[in-house]
Amino acid sequence: MTIKMTEVWKTFGEGHTAVHALRDIDLVGPQGDFSVILGPSGSGKTTLLNLVGAIDTASRGRIEVTGIDLANLDVDEQVAYRRENVGFVFQFFNLIPTLTALENVELVADLTAANGAERAAAVLEQVGLAERMNHFPAQLSGGEQQRVAIARALVKQPPILLCDEPTGELDFETGRMILDLLRQVTRDSNQTVLLVTHNAAIGAMADRVLRLRSGSIVDDTRNDDPVEASALTW
Ligand SMILES: Nc1ncnc2c1ncn2[C@@H]1O[C@H](COP(=O)(O)OP(=O)(O)OP(=O)(O)O)[C@@H](O)[C@H]1O
Ligand SMILES: [Mg+2]
Repeated sequence: MTIKMTEVWKTFGEGHTAVHALRDIDLVGPQGDFSVILGPSGSGKTTLLNLVGAIDTASRGRIEVTGIDLANLDVDEQVAYRRENVGFVFQFFNLIPTLTALENVELVADLTAANGAERAAAVLEQVGLAERMNHFPAQLSGGEQQRVAIARALVKQPPILLCDEPTGELDFETGRMILDLLRQVTRDSNQTVLLVTHNAAIGAMADRVLRLRSGSIVDDTRNDDPVEASALTW
C-alpha cells in the first residue's frame, strides 16, 4: 500500500472557532492507482493532499506513505520525504517566471540527480515540450506551462503525484490533453496519483473516485474500466 490513512482528523483552530477540515478519514491506496477526489468547495480536498504530501500534519490519526509514518518526521525529514516521494501539480502552475522552462525543471532535477540537466531535458521532451525548453513561462500557453509543471513534478520520479485542480485554469481541450498526459506518464512508471477536481466528469478516467463532503469520505467507488482522458466530455 502506498497510502494508508487511519482515523485521520485535521482540525484548524480550537474551541468555538474549530473547523474540522477532515473527520475520521480511513483510506488505503494501492501503488499505481489513479484516484480522483471530488467534493464541493471547503470539503477538505486540498487538506487531504497537504497531509499526504507532508505540507501539513494530521491533528489525530495515522498516515503512512510508502512505509513512512508521517507523524514522526521532524522538519528536515519532512523536506526529505517530500523531495524523494512526492510530486505536486497545482492549479496555477507555480513556475518561477524568471527561469526558462528548462531551468524550472532543472532546479528540481539538480536537487535529486547528478545528471540534472539531462534529466530535465528528457522529461520536458516526454511532455511534448522539446521545442519550447528555452522559453520563459510568460512565453508559453497555459497548457504548456502546466506541462512544464508536470515535468517538474515528474523529474524526480516520485512514487506519489498530488494534483490539485490541475485543469482548473485551462480550457476544455487543453485540460483534457493535460489529463491524458498525466494518465499516460504515471501509468508508464506505476505512480500513484491523487487528483483533486470540482469536475465530476473527470472521475470517468480514474481507477477510483472518492467523494468528500464536510471532511468525510461519503463515497468510494472503484472503476474497473476507466475511459481514456481523450474521451471525456463536460
Ligand atoms: N489554514 C487553515 N486555517 C483555517 N481553516 C482552514 C485552513 N485551511 C483550510 N481550512 C478550512 O478547512 C476546510 C477545508 O478546506 P480545503 O481547502 O481542504 O477545502 P477544498 O475542498 O480544497 O476546497 P476548494 O474546492 O475550495 O479548494 C474549509 O472549511 C477551510 O475553510
Ligand atoms: Mg482546494
